[in-house]
Amino acid sequence: LDNGLALTPPMGWLAWQRFRCLTDCITYPDECISENLFKAMADRMSSDGYLEAGYEYVIIDDCWASKERDNDSRLQPDPARFPGGIKNLSDYIHSKGLKFGIYADYGTHTCAGYPGSIDYLKIDAQTFAEWGVDYLKLDGCYADVETMPEGYGEMGQYLNETGRPIVYSCSQPAYQEPKGINPNYTKLAETCNLWRNWDDIDDAWSNVTNILGWFSSNQDRIASFSGPGHWNDPDMVGISANAECGHIRRLLDSVDRITGTNSSTMRVSLDEDYYIHDSLLLGNFGLSYEQSKAQMAIWAILAAPLLMSVDLRTIDPIFRDILQNKDVIAINQDPMGVQGRLVLTKSTIDIWTKPITPHIEGSDSYAIGVLSNRVDGYPYRLNFTLLELNLTHIYGYTIKDVYDPSSEPRDVDIDQLIFVRVKPSGVVLLTATPNSAINVSLII
Ligand code: DGJ
Repeated sequence: LDNGLALTPPMGWLAWQRFRCLTDCITYPDECISENLFKAMADRMSSDGYLEAGYEYVIIDDCWASKERDNDSRLQPDPARFPGGIKNLSDYIHSKGLKFGIYADYGTHTCAGYPGSIDYLKIDAQTFAEWGVDYLKLDGCYADVETMPEGYGEMGQYLNETGRPIVYSCSQPAYQEPKGINPNYTKLAETCNLWRNWDDIDDAWSNVTNILGWFSSNQDRIASFSGPGHWNDPDMVGISANAECGHIRRLLDSVDRITGTNSSTMRVSLDEDYYIHDSLLLGNFGLSYEQSKAQMAIWAILAAPLLMSVDLRTIDPIFRDILQNKDVIAINQDPMGVQGRLVLTKSTIDIWTKPITPHIEGSDSYAIGVLSNRVDGYPYRLNFTLLELNLTHIYGYTIKDVYDPSSEPRDVDIDQLIFVRVKPSGVVLLTATPNSAINVSLII
């Protein structure tokens, strides 16, 4: 959508994956969908480095509204959970230097049963603009899929007429694709800033790999529609950077305090060993540390919107560091905005590449994500050449390991074997920058 917004994939925080439709504020005062939750996340976004790293939108998902519209047919928030009203919340979020997003549904009801927008698209667009909304996610439950192309377009028109710049996220394809309808992505790119293509993300690695499987199988059909102002959206990130991990660290800290020991040295050395993240810190649920790094890397390569869904009050610093990794974010936010692709599968390991800047002597640089689908429990040693990945710059490339910035950059020829060790369901993320003819001739 050519509204000057989302020129790089939007970055922010979205409530759904972590907080779902938790509305019981009596039992769960800190976790329920309420103004307090969004204020607390906004506080963390501005104080804990997320805003600085580029995450700017704080976005409400489903379950914020009252079950009834007001006398003027306007949506209104649940009065007990949002006593200050949405405009106040939006002002608060803006006062932190952040932007504010909200959720609505194109159908008769939201997926969780709150009022839908089908008969009120214009009123809702105006209400959102008055509330200072900067981002709208328009879901597609309880809706006629056939009318979506026109209906999503109509809502886009109403948003535009408000005169307020609003990033427009459309869930339309996520409701068409499973029905075998091929969405008109050309039209979507003109109507929306981003669109959910496929299934919801859940807190499981199998779910991440299913989404990646869909994206790779359909890449020839969809990848070219992603670009500045219009993005394919494989759903949220940071999905397992959870409180439990932090709890275990805090527990170890307390043990240290009581016993006068220092397990941190042990923990540091264990952190370098991939076993700790899989077995100790995260238990049997969600993503491991390696899997979280892998998701972040491939989302960067896909030029996916980076919408975290995690409790920023309790996130363990090791996960915060993944979400805030500047080099990975730079790949995601590369100004060319090209969606990367799966280019090679070797020994059950997928290699994804994404063209990035700088562009040197006619050749793009690349991000290369080597993602292991292997389950044999040791870091597998894989070799490949850049030529196999269709990197053809005649003077070769300088490659760097993004997650290991202390490692030395290496010059490699395009037909030279590169060896990497990839942990089970882990990733090695590299950048390859074309060598300049001038430098190469100097060396020679
Ligand atoms: C379905 C969407 O795909 C999810 O991301 C979330 O918005 C829920 N609906 C909310 O009900």
